[in-house]
Amino acid sequence: MTGIIQNFDRAVAGYEANSTAQAALAQALAQWIAPGERRGHAVEFGAGTGLFTRQMTLWRGTYHATDAAPQMVQRGKMLASKANWQIADARQPDGLGPADWIFACNLLQWLDEPASVLRSWRKILRPGGQMAVAVLLPGTFEELQTVLPETSPLRWCGAEEWRGLLERAGFSLERMESWKHVEIYPNALTLLRAVHAMGLAPQRKVGAGKLRAALRAYDKKFVGRGGVRATWQAWLARGRAV
Ligand SMILES: C[S@@+](CC[C@H](N)C(=O)[O-])C[C@H]1O[C@@H](n2cnc3c(N)ncnc32)[C@H](O)[C@@H]1O
Repeated sequence: MTGIIQNFDRAVAGYEANSTAQAALAQALAQWIAPGERRGHAVEFGAGTGLFTRQMTLWRGTYHATDAAPQMVQRGKMLASKANWQIADARQPDGLGPADWIFACNLLQWLDEPASVLRSWRKILRPGGQMAVAVLLPGTFEELQTVLPETSPLRWCGAEEWRGLLERAGFSLERMESWKHVEIYPNALTLLRAVHAMGLAPQRKVGAGKLRAALRAYDKKFVGRGGVRATWQAWLARGRAV
């Protein structure tokens, strides 16, 4: 298990309670899949506790929800029991196809080599098979990065870069949209605790003094009605195997 997967595995208990933005993103992506299209053999990668999976429960066919973190899969089985859950690394999809649909909500930005992963996903799709993905963009946690630039745990590509990666992997894109969500926290410390509870550990540890100063700066700079803000930005795309 990579460090990223381990962090998610450990975060399972607090993940959903702290994932309002993730739930909103899962809902936004699910709305792109019309009820009449929810059929066939589907494979979802990085399904976590099933925030997106649960939106697809009226699926006609087989719905494989997969994640590399065993605790996530265990929780997912309880929360979205209609899906077939399986521990699987999204980087090794062989054996999960042939699929009519591939879904990945809020996963791709965690993968080191998305170009080769997307090619391998393309290979398990049937000709004309479809995929829908949501990926976090630069701009997510922009406030936190202003005060603690060294802590970002994510791989940041822009929407154009993701579009190129998907097209070069053999997908013809039919719909693309940017998505933005602003979450309000009582203060920066609460936000930071929530970020940890979601399984997003910083790349490098920060000293206590520096952290306190950063939290003070956050509370001052990003305060508004009801607390401090944290911005989420994502890109949603849907397409077909060509
Ligand atoms: C931010 S969570 C998103 C979970 C869910 N899709 C949602 O929208 O709430 C990312 C998930 O990807 C999983 N993950 C990370 N790297 C993975 C990999 N290489 N293969 C499969 N799952 C992975 C993590 O365990 C975690 O459950």
